[in-house]
Amino acid sequence: MTLHMNKQFKQILLNEVNRIDTAGSTKRVEVVIDSFTKEISPKALIKNKKYLIFNSNDYLGLRFNKDVINAEHKAADKFGAGPGAVRFISGTLKIYKELESAIAKFHGREDAMVFSSAFATNVAVMSCLLKGQSKDALLSNEVCVISDTLNHRSIIDGIRAASIDKEQKFIYKHLDFDDLRRVLQENQSKFKRAVVVTDGIFSMIGEFADIKKLKAVCLEFDKSYEQGVFLVVDDSHGVGSYGATGRGCEEKSNGQADALVGTFGKAFGSDGGYVVGDKVFIDYLRESAATYIYSNSVSPSVAGAALQSVRIVSSTKGRKLLQKLQENMQYLKKQMLKADLQFAAESDHPIQPLLVGDTMKAKQLKNLLFKQGIIVTNITYPVVPKGKDEIRIQISASHTKKDIDQLVKASNKSAKQLGIIK
Ligand SMILES: Cc1ncc(COP(=O)(O)O)c(C=O)c1O
Repeated sequence: MTLHMNKQFKQILLNEVNRIDTAGSTKRVEVVIDSFTKEISPKALIKNKKYLIFNSNDYLGLRFNKDVINAEHKAADKFGAGPGAVRFISGTLKIYKELESAIAKFHGREDAMVFSSAFATNVAVMSCLLKGQSKDALLSNEVCVISDTLNHRSIIDGIRAASIDKEQKFIYKHLDFDDLRRVLQENQSKFKRAVVVTDGIFSMIGEFADIKKLKAVCLEFDKSYEQGVFLVVDDSHGVGSYGATGRGCEEKSNGQADALVGTFGKAFGSDGGYVVGDKVFIDYLRESAATYIYSNSVSPSVAGAALQSVRIVSSTKGRKLLQKLQENMQYLKKQMLKADLQFAAESDHPIQPLLVGDTMKAKQLKNLLFKQGIIVTNITYPVVPKGKDEIRIQISASHTKKDIDQLVKASNKSAKQLGIIK
């Protein structure tokens, strides 16, 4: 209980919460999952009812993998429940170094750095690329940043955290590399360095950024900027789940970023974020990144689980999981189309957006599916353009055909009921 809160300030907070509720964008009414069943494809248990989860980022089903959970327990036994301190005090445990080596190797890079989350990673990477700790270290007034319109919030906050002038910040049209070219062209005589930043997989409809093409545009202008054009890609949704061996958008397009950000909290089934790149860049970050220097890393158990997941994804077992994921996706697409349902966009990522086209109906469809024991997410205007309101389905290798059949059947029935399809 709050012993004292200024009445006026309390009212201000109440007004803000009410404003959000009235706008219909309440987030704090969350679905509480009591536990999971022990089936091959685990179901959520909510008030003793089973629910199929079709909105999890656990694309390979690794969060319930026995070896991953065992590795988690082992790391906790060996290193304790928490890191005890930040990295440069006494919080650098061997398990973090092993995880960093493994993920650097996985992405074919010199070095890696683990953070508590990908959010914290992006804040560090973007703010440190744009502004150094010491006043003139990075010659901050000589840099411009060019960001995709639909980049993740953590990238935006990272740019904000650098507190550079607004004249140094640019946005290019979503996935429009000609527009990026225009911005790079217009600024080549004004700045000595450009930082280009994009999501790899865009999580709203599963689109992917072609890193090879993007890097080619950066290289076109690399010589026009005295300190070059530096490409940052946050492929949090792509790593582990996308590309022939799970190396994400880079693998899919056969391209490479200068700094690649990822998360262990999605396809790797654990938690925590990371960045991989050249050693000098990682060395610089270890000296400069506030979310690394002044904040704990993930728990050792979480790092142990992540390390085991990276090992699995790197093995033939991982290949099999990726293959199963692909099969499930193809099966979902085929069955949905057969059931007269349409997708909002063509995606070959496990994020599959089912087109509804109406904000209210998307919400109603989500609620109807929930009543039938299926959890999905509705993504509506203004997050997606008007008329592109959708139900975002996320497929996992751990889903069974029966699960998918149940989703398709319920979607067809409910979409008919709402007049979305005939
Ligand atoms: C593109 C992107 N970057 C970063 C994040 C944050 O990941 P984490 O949960 O590891 O902070 C997300 C998660 O929603 C994401 O989609």
